[in-house]
Amino acid sequence: MKVLVTGGIGYIGSHTCIAMIEAGIEPIILDNLSNSKLAVLDRIETLTSIRPVFYQGDVRDQDKLDLIFSEHEISSVIHFAGLKSVGESVAKPLEYFDNNVNGSLVLARSMRKAGVKSIVFSSSATVYGDPKVVPISENSPTGATTNPYGRSKYIVEQCFSDLFAAEPLWSITLLRYFNPVGAHPSGLIGEDPQGMPNNLMPFIAQVAVGRRDFLAVFGDDYDTVDGTGVRDYIHVMDVAAGHIAALKIVGEKAGLHIYNLGTGQGRSVLEMLDAFSLACGKTLPYQILPRRAGDIAQCWASTEKAQQELDWHATRTLNEMAADTWNWQSKNPQGYSDC
Ligand code: NAD
Ligand code: UFG
Repeated sequence: MKVLVTGGIGYIGSHTCIAMIEAGIEPIILDNLSNSKLAVLDRIETLTSIRPVFYQGDVRDQDKLDLIFSEHEISSVIHFAGLKSVGESVAKPLEYFDNNVNGSLVLARSMRKAGVKSIVFSSSATVYGDPKVVPISENSPTGATTNPYGRSKYIVEQCFSDLFAAEPLWSITLLRYFNPVGAHPSGLIGEDPQGMPNNLMPFIAQVAVGRRDFLAVFGDDYDTVDGTGVRDYIHVMDVAAGHIAALKIVGEKAGLHIYNLGTGQGRSVLEMLDAFSLACGKTLPYQILPRRAGDIAQCWASTEKAQQELDWHATRTLNEMAADTWNWQSKNPQGYSDC
């Protein structure tokens, strides 16, 4: 079974490609390298002894997509390609809508032309906005997003839902990730943000490895266990496994399938910092700063639907997330620039 993986050498894509190869699924990767490095392909080959077919190109390039579909008998697509920085999306909304929304539309058109009707889309818990109730189930209200990145994910969900309503032979799976963190246990692949990390885990990892002086904790006056923000951190290898389950169980069933990928447990910033200190064997410096604009107090997933329908649940603990991130960061202090 061949699956086109857009954005397949990015953070989540690369881990998913490894899980696919291990599950006997052949990834065909399309990536424009806007946020990834070719060295990832070497690492995938080292880990699996297989070098995936790779096309350098943009998901908005219909000719390129048509070529890929003509050269391979592709059964499904996993669509990771997109821009993902909340702050940057506020400054560059047109770029975000073009890449994330237009890219998804070009892809869907090319799939239709090629007769491929199965897609798994990387959505995000951001579509739920600031939840009134936790845990958040897949039926919770969506759409009250607070930034262009979140809106781009919500709009693509709507486009795909409308496509399914019009053409019900499609299998469309929307996976709403909570907070993916961690790295492959080998330490050969992991998250490698360019510039200042926006997200908690890569920031802590860079403090631990000496690239940053301290962690700025954005607010300690939320109504949470210790006043800091609470999120549902999920190991990227569990996220990868969720894609395999989705491909195998609903990937060939016509329908609009929507699942949360989370652990069902909320953890605070300070809990994550403690787990990381344990992993790296040192106390990490932090300072409490004011809240970050647009942040919510807490969110975590209801995981029942994915458990029942995909027979999938996250298995890795917070300590494993921290240990695997530290293993990756300490072996690659400058990320893939060390290659
Ligand atoms: P990433 O930036 O590491 O990976 C995305 C990959 O897509 C990169 O390799 C990039 O070069 C490529 N890409 C971007 N635009 C492209 C285009 N137009 N054509 C071809 N390739 C393109 O990000 P990630 O963390 O692996 O996220 C993957 C997907 O999951 C994204 O759609 C993201 O929005 C979504 N998501 C991520 C998170 C998270 O916290 N990491 C949470 C929820 C959802
Ligand atoms: N935080 C800090 N200091 C930092 C970075 C983050 O204290 O340097 C705090 C935040 O205030 C928040 C928590 O750590 O309480 C998590 O923040 P992240 O930026 O790691 O994650 P978010 O939940 O804010 O956002 C992430 C992605 C979004 C995605 C969302 C839901 O960045 O793209 O998860 O999936 F939409």
